[in-house]
Amino acid sequence: MSFDDPIDRFGTHSVKWDMMETLYDVPKGQGLAMWVADMEFRPPACVQKALTDMTDHGVYGYYGDDRAYLDAICWWMRERHGWEVEREAIFTTHGLVNGTALCVDAFTAPGDGVVLLTPVYHAFARVIAAAGRTVVSCPLAQVDGLYAMDFDAWDAQMTGSEKMLILCSPHNPGGRVWTAEELRGVAGFCRRHDLILVSDEIHHDLVFPGHKHIPMPVAAPDIADRLVMMTASTKTFNIAGSHTGNVIIPDPGLRERFGARLAALGISPNSFGLRMAEAAYSPEGAEWVDRLMAYLNENRRMFDETVNAIPGLRSMPMEATYLAWVDFAGTGMPAEEIITRVEKQGGIATNYGPSFGPGGETFLRFNIAMPRAMIEDACARLTDVFADLQ
Ligand SMILES: Cc1ncc(COP(=O)(O)O)c(C=O)c1O
Repeated sequence: MSFDDPIDRFGTHSVKWDMMETLYDVPKGQGLAMWVADMEFRPPACVQKALTDMTDHGVYGYYGDDRAYLDAICWWMRERHGWEVEREAIFTTHGLVNGTALCVDAFTAPGDGVVLLTPVYHAFARVIAAAGRTVVSCPLAQVDGLYAMDFDAWDAQMTGSEKMLILCSPHNPGGRVWTAEELRGVAGFCRRHDLILVSDEIHHDLVFPGHKHIPMPVAAPDIADRLVMMTASTKTFNIAGSHTGNVIIPDPGLRERFGARLAALGISPNSFGLRMAEAAYSPEGAEWVDRLMAYLNENRRMFDETVNAIPGLRSMPMEATYLAWVDFAGTGMPAEEIITRVEKQGGIATNYGPSFGPGGETFLRFNIAMPRAMIEDACARLTDVFADLQ
């Protein structure tokens, strides 16, 4: 399989493609879906084989004996991230939005504040608000065009009602790979303000050459007593529909509280997700991810070069993820005008900046995980709809 192969996803219940016309009013034949964070690629053959083995066998009973699955997770974290995980620390949830919701439920009470470093992945705020907790937005600073921590400002903002901080590492939508020093800063901030630290590291495998993701417990081992880690194979291997993620909790006390909520809600995972994750976390999976990142690296180069050549547009340098975060502030145009051009004239569906919280107002997020020909198409459309700025 080549990452260049085009795949028609219309009529497959793909939210990204099959909901585009309804939500964006972009006609099916003309639309280019660059919103939802899944990729236009098939997963590696080892993952496909796990599924065909299941369908060949043809019996879909209850799953049991998760030792090989847990070992695969431990292997992946050790080999790829230099992080030793204990089997006992691993819980499986229905993805990481579910994992986030369970953390909010298990470790905070209604009315408590949950800190987000904004702009950040939109589902965090949605889940926090839906659970009757308060979103406390701590705006990221920008230093040399990249997002940066602003601990002095955030220290001054805390009131004592905050109980949890949810970190996105690497950062969606800004694409930052946080340094060890920045991660230790977050850990220190959580200790100072007595916050549980939930570190969502779902993008940890999608890191570009020249950068190194450091898991929070590797950067700041002393935060283990208040740390909840969230990881998944779904973003890395494009299997998000399997809705399977891992919440990894080093501290036995926190583990017990989380386990109690899972038990109370009767949550147990589905066998498809577990079988796919186990297959993905393998040497074959690792080799596929390396090829994927080399491919995405060229997509990133092409997309950024085109966008940054349009006066007033600026794509934030992506150190990780396949999500380009483009600032249109320099055009001086109102948001409606930008959307009319990108969406109505260009036919490109994106994620709107404001949905990521304060700081996202002048941005659109573009998913660049697609065959090169589609990136070329996207670049041509953007150049065309902003041609008058040249
Ligand atoms: C930071 C982050 N967390 C979680 C998710 C979604 O996780 P899941 O599909 O496992 O619910 C995404 C999807 O883009 C994400 O960017």
